[in-house]
Amino acid sequence: WSVENTDYYRPLYHHTPSYGWMNDANGMVYKDGEYHLYFQYNPYGSKWGNMHWGHAVSTDLMHWKELQPAIARDTMGHIFSGSSVVDKNNTAGYGNGAIIALYTSASDKNGQIQCMAYSTDNGRTFTKYEGNPVLRPFDGLKDFRDPKVFWYEPAKAWYMIVSADKEMRFYKSDDLKKWTYISGFGRGYGMQPCQYECPDFVQLPVNGDKNNMKYVMLMNVNPGCLFGGSATEYFVGDFDGKNFTCVDDPHVPKWLDYGKDHYATVCFSNTGDRVIALPWMSNWQYANVTPIKQYRGANGLPRELSLYTKDGRYYVAANVAPEVKAIRKETKTVEDIKTGASVDKKGVAAGYDGAFEIEFDVTPAADGTAGIEVYNDKGEKTMIYFDLKQMRVVMDRTQSGLTDFGNLAEPHDIEKKADAARQSKGQQPMRIENAVNYKNDFALGTWAPLNLCEDKTYHVDVFVDKCSVELFVDGGRIAMTNLVFPTKPYDSVKFYSEGGKSAFSQIKVYKLGM
Ligand code: FRU
Repeated sequence: WSVENTDYYRPLYHHTPSYGWMNDANGMVYKDGEYHLYFQYNPYGSKWGNMHWGHAVSTDLMHWKELQPAIARDTMGHIFSGSSVVDKNNTAGYGNGAIIALYTSASDKNGQIQCMAYSTDNGRTFTKYEGNPVLRPFDGLKDFRDPKVFWYEPAKAWYMIVSADKEMRFYKSDDLKKWTYISGFGRGYGMQPCQYECPDFVQLPVNGDKNNMKYVMLMNVNPGCLFGGSATEYFVGDFDGKNFTCVDDPHVPKWLDYGKDHYATVCFSNTGDRVIALPWMSNWQYANVTPIKQYRGANGLPRELSLYTKDGRYYVAANVAPEVKAIRKETKTVEDIKTGASVDKKGVAAGYDGAFEIEFDVTPAADGTAGIEVYNDKGEKTMIYFDLKQMRVVMDRTQSGLTDFGNLAEPHDIEKKADAARQSKGQQPMRIENAVNYKNDFALGTWAPLNLCEDKTYHVDVFVDKCSVELFVDGGRIAMTNLVFPTKPYDSVKFYSEGGKSAFSQIKVYKLGM
C-alpha cells in the first residue's frame, strides 16, 4: 500500500502516513506485542476532510507498518478521535481480548455523538455496533467528542472521559455500551478562552513511589493557547470514582510541552505501568498549509510520562521514550567546552540527511546565556538557548527556513484577545518577545520556565528530523516540539555562550535512521 515518497520534508524517523492527511493520533492500544496506532485520517487528500481512523502497527514504537484504514467514514458522519481498550473479560460480549473502540461520529445533521466498534482480529478490522450511538450529550452540546475509555479497578467498571466544550465529563459503564453520567470537571479552569479536545486520564506514581499514586487529566486546548493556537494542558489530582479534584490551583495552567507543534496528545492503553503518549506534531493555526503535498501530518516521538513534585506542586515530565535509542546509527563525541568560547562544529551532522540527535549537559554562566544553533550553510538555523537571567529555555525558529505559508487558518483576533486577557492578569505571553507577529504565527519561537528543573546543570536531548526539532530537558521536565522547514538539511551545530563562562560536557551527536 505504500507509495514512493515525493515530499522533501517527509521525516526520516517520525511516523507519517504514506499518502493523505493525518491529524490526532488516537485509539492507541497495545496488545500481544503490537502497538496499534490509529489516527485521524483523510485517505483522499492531504487536507483535513472525510475523516477515517488510519492504522499502523509497530513492535517497538519506532518502526511503523501501515495497514488499511481501520474505521471508515459512514453515513452517520466523520469518524473523529476516540480510544480503544482490550476487553480482557468480555464485558461487551465480543469475546475475551476483543479490541473495543469508542469514537465520535460527527456530522452537521447528527452533531457529535459517541459510537462503538469492535475488532476480533487484533485491531485489523472493526465492526460498528448496531446500537450506535452509545452516548449523546444530555444538553444538546455542539462540541462533545473524543471519548477516552479506561478501566477503574475500585468500581470494577469502565469509565469514559469526554470533552464537552469548556469542561470534561466522566461517564461509567459495565459493558462499554450503556453509559451513565458521573461528573464534570474543568469549567473556568486552566487555559481560558478554551475549547477542550482529546482528553486522557492516567495514573502515575508521585516521584516513582507506587504507594502514592495520582491521576493526571490531559486535555488538549484550541485555540488561543500561550504560544498561539493549539497545545496540551494537564491537571494533577485525585479521583474517587465520582469526582476529580485538582491538587494544585486549577486556574494555573500546566503544559505537557512548550512548543507550538504538540497537539491532541493522548496515551496508549494497556501498557501496564508505563504511560506512553504520542503527540500530533502540528498546530491548527497552519496544519493545512505546511509545505507538503503527498501527505500532511506527522506524529512526534513517543514520550514516557512520569510525575514529580517541585516547590510543593505536582508536574508531569514527558521524556522521549527509551525505544528511540534503538535508531541511533552512529555516535560522535564532541570534546567538553569549558572556556566560554563558541565552538562551531561545522558539518558534524553532514551526510545525516537532517536526521540526528544532540545530547549534552550544560551549565550556563550565572546570569548568562548558553545554547546551540542547529544550522545549514544557507544561514537557516534553529536556536535553543538557556537564558539564566530570565530563567528560561528558548527555542527560536524565526530563521529556521521556510516560515511563511500564507493564509493561516486561525482567526487571529482570538489569539490577540487571549494574549490581552493574560497580560491584564500580569501573565506574559510565552511567545519570544522579538517574534510576536499575528500575521505569520508560524515563525514564532517558544520558551519554558527553568524553575521546573532542579539544579543549574541541565541535561539536554535534542531530536532533529527533516521538518521538526524536539527538545527534552532533564528527563522531560521541559519538552518543546516545533516544526521547522529548512530548505537544506541542517548539518552543523554551534555551541555558544554569552555573558560569562558556560560549560558544555558529555556532548554526543548521533545519526538517526530506521
Ligand atoms: C483535535 C480534533 C478533535 C477531533 C478531531 C477531528 O485535533 O479537533 O477534537 O475529534 O480533531 O479530526
